[in-house]
Amino acid sequence: MESLKKSRELRMKKIQWEPENFELEMNTVWDFPDRGKWATHDAKYRGNWSPYIPRNLLLRYSAKGDWVLDQFAGGGTTLVEAKLLGRNILGVDVNPKALERCQEKCDFPWEDGGLVKIREGDARDLSFIPDEYMDFVCTHPPYADIIRYSEDIESDLSHCGHDAFLKEMEKVASESYRVLKKGKFCAILMGDTRKKGCMIPLSFEVMQIFLNAGFTLKELIVKTQHNCRATGFWKTNSVKYNFLLIAHEHLFVFRK
Ligand SMILES: C[S@@+](CC[C@H](N)C(=O)[O-])C[C@H]1O[C@@H](n2cnc3c(N)ncnc32)[C@H](O)[C@@H]1O
Repeated sequence: MESLKKSRELRMKKIQWEPENFELEMNTVWDFPDRGKWATHDAKYRGNWSPYIPRNLLLRYSAKGDWVLDQFAGGGTTLVEAKLLGRNILGVDVNPKALERCQEKCDFPWEDGGLVKIREGDARDLSFIPDEYMDFVCTHPPYADIIRYSEDIESDLSHCGHDAFLKEMEKVASESYRVLKKGKFCAILMGDTRKKGCMIPLSFEVMQIFLNAGFTLKELIVKTQHNCRATGFWKTNSVKYNFLLIAHEHLFVFRK
């Protein structure tokens, strides 16, 4: 009864369920000036990724009926896309508030939609997933402490400064490798930062950690950023102290 009511409500809202004229990205620069607001997506979860990113990744590196893991599920963008595309997904996050949001975002009827499982947990310890269970890992961790996702959750990696974060990402890489089937793919989006005017190449440091865990690098994609403000405070300072505003992130696709 409840789901019939929900389905009628959603139909009445005339939601656009999938992107119009979607085309798969064909080269190593991905640019989404319109971040995408089909289905239940919105930009309200701080630092969430554009749904175009998981859509491209899921279509290229997984098949219908596969099991996908997003162990930094956040606001649920990957989960919604997996459901729409008929992939089964396990979303994990340390933050119960994020998981509530994931639940809400995935609560829509979809014919032949993939299963969505949501679980509170820590990406460094996925011992509830058997070895070589997953067909694809598609995830977006915090960029160390650049954006803080919680106040007091100890296991939240967005509380870690640069060095501690890299140390903990070794466990994330090792668990990602363990749960993935041989020959399958693991995609990670990561950004860089600046300290005292110089670049800190956090993304390449994380890339090296995944290579050390045993992965090979299938693709290195530059994802442009559109929220980089070249006005006011940042413009004045970038001219005064002569530095460039960071306007891209790196998307790595690894193979086991
Ligand atoms: C960049 S956000 C993910 C956003 C997501 N891609 C989306 O579109 O909504 C990173 C998430 O990692 C979570 N997180 C931080 N430390 C974690 C850990 N140790 N294990 C699992 N999740 C963690 C945070 O709570 C946050 O929700």
